[in-house]
Amino acid sequence: MTIRIPLSAPDITEAEIDAVTAVLRTPQLSLGPQLAAFETALAAYHSVDHAVAVSSGTAGLHLALLTLGIGQGDEVIVPSFTFIAVANTVLQVGATPVFAEIDSVTLNLNPAAVEKAITPRTRAILAVHTFGIPADMEALQSIARRHGLALIEDACEAIGAEFDHRRVGSFGNLAVLGFYPNKQITTGEGGAVLSSDPAYAARLRSLRNQGRLPNGDWLDHAEPGYNYRLSEMACALGRVQLSRIGEILSIRQAAAQRYDALLRDIPGLELPPLTLPRRGISWFVYVVRLPEGLRRDEVQAHLAGRGIATGRYFAPIHQQPSWRAQIASGAMDLALTESIALRTLALPFFNRIAAARQQEVAEALRDAILTAT
Ligand SMILES: Cc1ncc(COP(=O)(O)O)c(C=O)c1O
Repeated sequence: MTIRIPLSAPDITEAEIDAVTAVLRTPQLSLGPQLAAFETALAAYHSVDHAVAVSSGTAGLHLALLTLGIGQGDEVIVPSFTFIAVANTVLQVGATPVFAEIDSVTLNLNPAAVEKAITPRTRAILAVHTFGIPADMEALQSIARRHGLALIEDACEAIGAEFDHRRVGSFGNLAVLGFYPNKQITTGEGGAVLSSDPAYAARLRSLRNQGRLPNGDWLDHAEPGYNYRLSEMACALGRVQLSRIGEILSIRQAAAQRYDALLRDIPGLELPPLTLPRRGISWFVYVVRLPEGLRRDEVQAHLAGRGIATGRYFAPIHQQPSWRAQIASGAMDLALTESIALRTLALPFFNRIAAARQQEVAEALRDAILTAT
């Protein structure tokens, strides 16, 4: 059966197509006015002084760590219940990711577990706003301050989410956004790093552009850098998407509310919270937890048989084949991460998902749960 209802889908209107086409009629396809305007709009949206657009969220994480001078011998506290790039980029700069346990409701770093994971080598906390639910920024900021640590926000899944009425991305020393096509807004591939520190912004701009300095000669390089630039076409697309974000976030919230109403009475099925104290959720994915003991692969096969895509969201990083060998067994207590990750299932979720398709997904999930062992 081919997939009829995908897990995610971008929402591209004629306005985005026109904006990208207009750029293609100009001679400037990189480092031009679209980049400057996209960065200005991103910084304003997040109430920070600087936004530096980059080629992906992963590139943004890499540059954020480099900008803070994190490297060999340093430890960075991260969740394991997240996307692999979070730990890979820490490793990439020569530092060691230390996995800390999550909170069972928000699925974000548990501040008490973070505090326990601190050692004399800890340099930073990398807090991910998982699935668009803000992490406890008050507690994490306080821990970072008390222990003299940097705080990096990974807001790749959470643009527009709020903690105490303040947008995520504005709390950390640096924050990273991601614009892959499954995200709330997309540039195809892309990301950005936010900061209100002018020195960080300057370093980020240099590192993303081969270590060049502003207004310097194209062949002068102040330090080893990367090509993590974002094209003018991508920035033009991002500008239109960002201008629609209010509408996009409310459409996604309505879709989450519809799933909640459709799925609420399935016994043993745990639904994501629709609201949480002090938090405004930016819906990235809709992830349920299957009843305990149920075979998730059977449920997924059942839905796939009806043309419905699903995802595991997330497979813990410390259990990935690429990571198992690097981690001393028994070094961490990640029992909650492991048990939750066995039960999570992401359902089709995107701006234009029709109510009738959501009903189909709900009916298929209900049948799958009733027949699965
Ligand atoms: C939490 C998190 N961090 C980082 C990334 C990496 O972003 P990208 O795929 O743009 O490199 C993603 C998603 O893709 C993510 O979900």
